Amino acid sequence: MHIFVQRQTLQTPVCGLLGCDYPVFLAGMGGVARSELVAAVCNAGGFGFLGMVREAPKLIRAEISRVRAATPRGFGVNLIPAATPPDLLEAELEAVIAEHVAAVTLFWDMSPALVHRLRAAGCLVLSQVGSADEAAAAVAAGAHIVIAQGFEAGGHVRGRIPLKTLIAEVVARVDVPVLAAGGIVDGRDLAAALALGAQGAVIGTGFLATRESFAHDYHKERIIAAKPGETVHTQAFHINWPAGTAVRVLSNSVTRGEHGDPFAAGRRIIGGQGQRPIYLFSTDSPLRDMTGEFEAMALYAGTGAARIESIPTAAERLAAIVEEAARILDSPSSPEHG
Ligand SMILES: Cc1cc2nc3c(=O)[nH]c(=O)nc-3n(C[C@H](O)[C@H](O)[C@H](O)COP(=O)(O)O)c2cc1C
Repeated sequence: MHIFVQRQTLQTPVCGLLGCDYPVFLAGMGGVARSELVAAVCNAGGFGFLGMVREAPKLIRAEISRVRAATPRGFGVNLIPAATPPDLLEAELEAVIAEHVAAVTLFWDMSPALVHRLRAAGCLVLSQVGSADEAAAAVAAGAHIVIAQGFEAGGHVRGRIPLKTLIAEVVARVDVPVLAAGGIVDGRDLAAALALGAQGAVIGTGFLATRESFAHDYHKERIIAAKPGETVHTQAFHINWPAGTAVRVLSNSVTRGEHGDPFAAGRRIIGGQGQRPIYLFSTDSPLRDMTGEFEAMALYAGTGAARIESIPTAAERLAAIVEEAARILDSPSSPEHG
């Protein structure tokens, strides 16, 4: 299908708001969504978020300039206040505001004061939520866009509601654009999310499994090998985050209980990233610059991992998704043509 037709078919108001060609968003995955991946997604017509949770302001500024050197397109930054010490969060915010970043995605808790501050600095604010009540609270606080994160999502999972139900509930509740996240890996998933009223798809696992992502090859290979039903929703990976938070990961020796009680006293080092130790039961996932026992780390993956079979470039993954979605939505039997 001609690229112009694809763009027309898939374009939603949020594309105009953020200045991208396609309603496909790279999730701000901590550690994984670094400048190389963000620039690749933006250059391919999508919109990327740098995953900067708990990163030093120096790295944030360096990553922002690397993206700017690699693409003229807009992009955003993801921060997670609940998982960041207050002093560091303040320094991160100062860096993001000083750099005039176009958009910031916040996740986990909602701070109206923070949303206010980012808005006042001219940032578009996105808030990833797990329920319609949270979506309403985010919009009341001033969020411009909400991301409805379904239970299928990889990484930290905010709610318990399956994506299809959640999109319908959130779209009915708020009057700002809604993006869908959780288990979306192909054009069929994107078409379904758009048909339900979402204005775009936020993709994590699908872009983790690309050449440009900063995930370690071990993690990418495990995603390719994943079978249906292999992801686990667990609280076992908890060090670095507030208590009681759940993640979706591929099953491994930790989720099978082979290392004992994750909440027992004492910490065991299982790897390193430069001088930084990586602890068993921490939320760190294997990255390119880490060494250690990758098998026992948090192998984040959404339920869509079972349908990922290769490690293409991010542009190839994005093109395949938009071509398939446009074909489905353009076919005479599509509900959109009703
Ligand atoms: C490896 C990985 C790391 C993630 N890190 C973050 C993060 O730092 N901040 C955030 O808001 N969401 C994070 N998420 C969740 C994503 O924002 C998104 O909800 C999720 O990836 C969507 O599901 P999918 O992985 O099935 O596409 C992460 C997800 C993955 C897979």
